[in-house]
Amino acid sequence: MRWAEELLSALKRAALYRRRVRREGLLDFCSNDYLCLARHPRVVAAARRVLEEEGLGSGASQLVSGYTRYHELLERELADFKGFPSCLLFGSGYLANAGALPALAGEGDLIASDELNHASIIDGVRLSKAERFVFPHRDYDALERFLRQNRHRFKKVLVVTDTVFSMDGTVADLPRLYEIAERYDCLLYLDEAHATGTLGRGALERFNLPYREFVLLMGTLSKALGAYGAFVCASKPVTELLLNRARTAIFSTSLPPSVCAGALEALRVLKERPELPERLREKERRLVELLNELGLPYAYHGTPVIPVLVGDEEAALRLSRALREEGVLVQAIRYPTVPKGKARLRLTARLCYGEEEFNLLKEAFKKALKRTSLDLTQKRAGTS
Ligand SMILES: Cc1ncc(COP(=O)(O)O)c(C=O)c1O
Repeated sequence: MRWAEELLSALKRAALYRRRVRREGLLDFCSNDYLCLARHPRVVAAARRVLEEEGLGSGASQLVSGYTRYHELLERELADFKGFPSCLLFGSGYLANAGALPALAGEGDLIASDELNHASIIDGVRLSKAERFVFPHRDYDALERFLRQNRHRFKKVLVVTDTVFSMDGTVADLPRLYEIAERYDCLLYLDEAHATGTLGRGALERFNLPYREFVLLMGTLSKALGAYGAFVCASKPVTELLLNRARTAIFSTSLPPSVCAGALEALRVLKERPELPERLREKERRLVELLNELGLPYAYHGTPVIPVLVGDEEAALRLSRALREEGVLVQAIRYPTVPKGKARLRLTARLCYGEEEFNLLKEAFKKALKRTSLDLTQKRAGTS
């Protein structure tokens, strides 16, 4: 096992070694369960009921015998929630992107992808036989220039973007992307993992954009909906095509029915309480105020993903460890999740946190900064 040890040593030397932390007993300020729906009594009760009725696992893929009325109902309500004609479930967000992208674009096609898109999109693009064009983060002029010169070379073009970027909290300019997709006859594939339930129902609602046939919307159940799994909403022929071609849907066991029931209940809570995303905004602003009081450099773009910009990988690790020693869990995010030298602590705003938790976080930061002797105040910047 020397080869493995050598590779691990190299990671350690570069401060890129990763380890898991058990979260029990720690105040979790990096969870994606933004609306705290994972523990909502109605959500837990709905999942428990179906767990008793259906048992633990679904037993097979959707196309074999792993499709129940809970899967069907969830797909229907997700499509309705997002304002799309049809919806297909996937086992996770990673599986959705890794499976849908190669199923949608192949030889003779192009996938144009924002450079900060999530790893699962990058891997989906790699698995596809389509050509690729990676444009600088939110540089839609660069995208348009490329399409103006090259659109004629491709049969189909798929423009892919996170709508809320997972490590930066930035938001894609969807009105501009709609315009570009229409002008250059492209499909637009939107990853709403961090937008579903945080920007209203998602980024389309935020920008007041209607469903259009050229738009495909991927979302996860694993973040603001507090469950697990993912979905792609699109026109009926497109979801049917995905069910027939996306290998991660065909060759993987479907979601447990109880998870579908829990996610469905979370969706219903969100529908009944459309004010929840705006209440999350208040928590974000409180977090930003606290970071200002501490004099820390951060980036805030009106979403619950608020990175504290550290830069150096080793410094980010030290700060994260010191915070943990003070009882607060905020993981250091490093390469390859973000570019080298752009390490950060990815803080998230959560609906269930109030003054008590914010004060604990503030005190923990004060002590951790003192103990690590890190001076981050010089690096203050509005963006990451
Ligand atoms: C933008 C984005 N897409 C996809 C995923 C993958 O989703 P999941 O965790 O459900 O696999 C994530 C989160 O990990 C994400 O941030």
